[in-house]
Amino acid sequence: MGLTIFLYNMNNDSLFNKSLPVDALKSIGSISTAWKAPSNIALVKYWGKRPKQIPQNPSLSFSLSACFTSTTLTVSYSEDRQPIIVNGEKDHPFAPKLTAFFNTMVAYFPFLERSAIAVNTENSFPHSVGIASSASAFASIALCLCEVEQRLMGNEGLGSAFLQKASFIARLGSGSASRSVYGAYQVWGYLPELPNSTNDYAIPVTPSFNPMFLGLRDAVLVVSTEPKSLSSTNGHTLMVDHPYADARYAEAKLSLNALLKSLRKGDMATFLMLCEQEALTLHGLIMSSRTSPILLKPESLLLISKIREYRQTSGLQVGFTIDAGPNIHLLYHDSIAAQVEDFINAELKPLCENGLVIFDRCGSGPERIKQ
Ligand code: DP6
Repeated sequence: MGLTIFLYNMNNDSLFNKSLPVDALKSIGSISTAWKAPSNIALVKYWGKRPKQIPQNPSLSFSLSACFTSTTLTVSYSEDRQPIIVNGEKDHPFAPKLTAFFNTMVAYFPFLERSAIAVNTENSFPHSVGIASSASAFASIALCLCEVEQRLMGNEGLGSAFLQKASFIARLGSGSASRSVYGAYQVWGYLPELPNSTNDYAIPVTPSFNPMFLGLRDAVLVVSTEPKSLSSTNGHTLMVDHPYADARYAEAKLSLNALLKSLRKGDMATFLMLCEQEALTLHGLIMSSRTSPILLKPESLLLISKIREYRQTSGLQVGFTIDAGPNIHLLYHDSIAAQVEDFINAELKPLCENGLVIFDRCGSGPERIKQ
């Protein structure tokens, strides 16, 4: 089993390992690319991983629209590798993480061996509001890097092979970033019943869905803007010796198949029920782990009960998902937005920190920024 996985990874690594020479930048000098990539919110959660960012179970997410990262990457020829400059600073807080990332990238983009790298990156959304900035940041960087390679190869195509490689590269920065190179809905991780699904990169899954789901909205009810008390890295580690790990990985596949079915059928009620179950399963796993942290706050639970009560009394299809934090993502369709937003303003906003709600929706995916 171990050997099979090893060979499988080797094949795919070599698939993406193009042989542009280390000196490829020399005659050109410098290339600048810029991309904007969305954050995404998982509906079936990636929680638990093996080395090399291989997920323990497949995940499903949708890309957001208003929450994105814009990145400009400049790669210049340099005989010696230079320290990475982030937003004009050598000592930027993101620099150590990016340095580690670009070090692993030399295997896939050999020209980085002789380069100086400058990254300018900006998020459209505030920090610590329960929206993954590492997903949008690494997706935008991966898209920039793949475009630099394309240009060096004299190739302008930005089709599905380009996006697959960008997703593969983004995954190595942060697992959930693999999903942010596509718009609408995407799956990352091998699911036997889903053709072309793979642990190596995410694939878009929207075409088979009922188009109604393109109108899904996500209002992020921000209960707390405190920095995350559990980093994703530590969270994934909690699954290593988790007593329910095997059951979780099996259950995630069943959930994913059931969610895909509801998305294809246009069955909003089942879809919302499964999203809630998945979100609470994530928190159940966190609470039943070795260190048993509780990430939900009293206000998170109040919001959940208000949302369920409103669904019951109004008959409207609202539901929620939650990331690994206290903030609640309220899910509802475009067609009932006016009523639901009245409810948010009257009942939910007062429970949010400084009344903060971020209104977002299912988005159309990354865009190249004209320079
Ligand atoms: C709970 O992708 O942030 O948001 O691969 O270690 O960078 P790393 O983890 P990350 O984990 C995301 C966990 C999650 C669920 C999800 O987005 O699927």
